[in-house]
Amino acid sequence: MNTLVKLCLVGGLGAAFLAYQWSEPSLNVESLKGVRVLVTGASKGIGEQMAYHYARFGAHIVITGRTEKALQQVVKKCKELGAKKAEYIPADMSSTTDPFTVVEFALDKLGGLDHLVLNHIGITSFGLWDGDVEHVRWLLQVNFLSYLQMTKKALPALEESKGSIIVVSSMAGKIFTPFVAPYTATKSALNGFYGSLQHELAMQNRNVSITICTLGLIDTESAMRAVKGRTSLIPSPASEAAWQMIKGGALRQSEVFYPWTTYVYTFFRDWFPSQRDKIIRSSYHLEA
Ligand SMILES: NC(=O)c1ccc[n+]([C@@H]2O[C@H](COP(=O)([O-])OP(=O)(O)OC[C@H]3O[C@@H](n4cnc5c(N)ncnc54)[C@H](OP(=O)(O)O)[C@@H]3O)[C@@H](O)[C@H]2O)c1
Ligand SMILES: *[C@@H]1O[C@H](CO)[C@@H](O)[C@H](O)[C@H]1NC(C)=O
Repeated sequence: MNTLVKLCLVGGLGAAFLAYQWSEPSLNVESLKGVRVLVTGASKGIGEQMAYHYARFGAHIVITGRTEKALQQVVKKCKELGAKKAEYIPADMSSTTDPFTVVEFALDKLGGLDHLVLNHIGITSFGLWDGDVEHVRWLLQVNFLSYLQMTKKALPALEESKGSIIVVSSMAGKIFTPFVAPYTATKSALNGFYGSLQHELAMQNRNVSITICTLGLIDTESAMRAVKGRTSLIPSPASEAAWQMIKGGALRQSEVFYPWTTYVYTFFRDWFPSQRDKIIRSSYHLEA
């Protein structure tokens, strides 16, 4: 890298960090008391941590995922932490009917909805694309189309409550990296779709906020298993990721970046494309 590029990077890094800090308003946590929330993919990982944060605020919570046993345990812990209500419904988001059923169940149990947290993802392998188009079609249903189905079903209730949708996306939806092509496709689709919907709702004065979250590598069991030996990136804690997204949703922010470095990467994305690609390719290994 020549000196000019380095200077621009350092200056830009400082500017990006300051912009990120300044864009950080504080939250009146009272606004989360007794909130009615549906969290998907909450049987483990970041979704589980989100359920626990909501529980501590005395929220009314419905969680979903496929594994009934795990859901039961999360519900139990939510109640111990202070949830006013905690219920679960097992569902498989690769089904074209389960997404609707889940929202119906939540509306019925909670009598309305304030926050809709769309967080689940289907299992996909971390590695070179093997040409399996059917898998991508399946993953689009789980990671993308089911989000739209749930949004459609929940929108009237969210309009009534002036509620919030939290869409858990990823750095993968902003910057493209190897070994996650199908996953990247679904996250890019989410960013595009919900970015467009944000405009449409605002232009129609429909007061439902959409918070699109860009997460970096987070230390959940599945993510750690997937990237083992393939990257030197340092993961951030799931509980903090969960809290930052809830905060952003409650503040009706259009985007959340966690950790803050994801904001910097996004900021620089198109500045030096060839350097960027060199850095990306050198931080992943073909063989585990
Ligand atoms: N961890 C990271 O490094 C990272 C980075 C960027 C973005 N994110 C995003 O953060 C979110 C959560 O990630 P995570 O690491 O917490 O994942 P995780 O620990 O693997 O949890 C995924 C959740 O989705 C559920 N799920 C899986 N397949 C499903 C299906 N077919 N139908 C319904 N539910 C299903 C799982 O429960 P069951 O197995 O019981 O169904 C589980 O509750 C995702 O949107 C992910 O893209 C994560
Ligand atoms: C939308 O609803 C929120 C939460 O009730 C409120 O604070 C905000 O002022 C509303 N915005 C508009 C444009 O009505």
